[in-house]
Amino acid sequence: MATHAAVRAKPSRRLRGPNPLVAFRYLAAGRLDGAPEFMLDIARRYGTVARFNVAGTNFYAVAEPELVREILVTKARSFVKSRGIERMRPLLGDGLLTSEEPLHLRQRRLVQPAFHRDRIANYGQTMVSYALRTADSWQAGDVVNVVAAMMRLTLSIAGKTLFDADVEGEADTIGRALNTTMEIFPLLLQPFSEWRDKLPLPSTRRFNAARETLASTIDAMIASRRREGVDRGDVLSMLIESRDDDGSRMDDKQIRDECLTILLAGYETTAVALSWTWYVLSQHPLARQRLGDELHSVLGERDATSEDFPRLAYTTAVVKESMRLYPPAWIVGRRAVDDVAIGDVAIRAGEVTLMSPFAVHRDPRYYDEPLAFRPERWLVERELPKFAYFPFGGGNRVCIGESFAWMEAVLVLATIARRWAMTLEPGTPVATAPSVTLRPKYPMPMRLSRVS
Ligand code: HEM
Repeated sequence: MATHAAVRAKPSRRLRGPNPLVAFRYLAAGRLDGAPEFMLDIARRYGTVARFNVAGTNFYAVAEPELVREILVTKARSFVKSRGIERMRPLLGDGLLTSEEPLHLRQRRLVQPAFHRDRIANYGQTMVSYALRTADSWQAGDVVNVVAAMMRLTLSIAGKTLFDADVEGEADTIGRALNTTMEIFPLLLQPFSEWRDKLPLPSTRRFNAARETLASTIDAMIASRRREGVDRGDVLSMLIESRDDDGSRMDDKQIRDECLTILLAGYETTAVALSWTWYVLSQHPLARQRLGDELHSVLGERDATSEDFPRLAYTTAVVKESMRLYPPAWIVGRRAVDDVAIGDVAIRAGEVTLMSPFAVHRDPRYYDEPLAFRPERWLVERELPKFAYFPFGGGNRVCIGESFAWMEAVLVLATIARRWAMTLEPGTPVATAPSVTLRPKYPMPMRLSRVS
């Protein structure tokens, strides 16, 4: 364990930061509206490491790629997840997102095979066929709420790839339960909200009921799969089969926690990424045109498969640029468990670092005209510090679904964009509603026209 004396300390008076009351309002009061912009503002005003105190805890807003790398990679052992993720534990138990070492490492090894390259290529077929089902359910001239449509689509893809279940039928049950938990989540971040968990408040009751619904639905799937004893090529089969080096397997509770974690971590993030992608495309006709051109030249008259993925360079750049501007996981937090030096800043055990992809991705040192949507910037070779772009986090806690998410976002975009052009209905307000993810605040009604 590092001692504070061993740490090259930057005198804390040299670190500035926002007024604690303002920070409280954005980051702790449970209303996260404006919080991503607040993180950006902190970096602009106070520099790429800022310090402030909220309710007795010191926070560091870190927006320097090299320091993000230290926290997430080289000095990751000195940190655990911070409260935002810890508060998901009542829902997710000890799944990958919430667990800490040594359990996390064991679980990561057990879950990893489900995300092997070959498996993901197989999931590609599901991604395309479900995207087609969505595209075929639309008529020219329809106005669709793209956010709701993408949530339904990624949930049904998650249901099929995770459980080999057509959750379209159950989407109402699972989707509604997941939605309730997401809605209530900001309340769980409020100060002293641990008390709320124990009180019979309406929100606590709704949250608990949603949790029970999710747990019992997943338990039933695990039980029926165990009875069948067949590998259905989905994530659940892998989790049931997966063995540790000593031959041990996961028990049902652990499998449930992992399933729920993967379901929750996987569907909403990708739906949010796709929703913002449709939005930015609707605002940038030239990019939309170029996307169409690539789809035409690579695919001709057929639909994409996972094998096309490496050739869909512009389509990938569109998703990449959209996640630069609207990273679904807009903030990543860590709490120090040791005294540790990050760059020349001394961080003490118990203090919290907040790293915001939203802020770093808009840094003009790395991105010319950072607010402009320019997919082309990803098509030229250039030196970029690794953590100047980190929508999937990094280090030992990097998103396990990253390749899955790229495949899904690119194949869904390609499949739908070959058929439909989307125009945002005039006068529609557009804003972010940050919670666990950077959801759009309002529905995104898009009028559809056929791509000729
Ligand atoms: C665009 C889509 C996605 C984004 C932006 C995203 C982002 C992230 C980020 C930033 C983390 C790290 C959180 C931290 O360090 O505190 C993470 C972790 C995780 N993600 Fe994703 N994710 C996406 C899609 C997915 C998908 C599709 C799956 C599964 C199918 C998934 C499953 C997970 C899991 C299980 C973890 C925890 C990994 C661990 O700690 O070992 N994610 N994700």
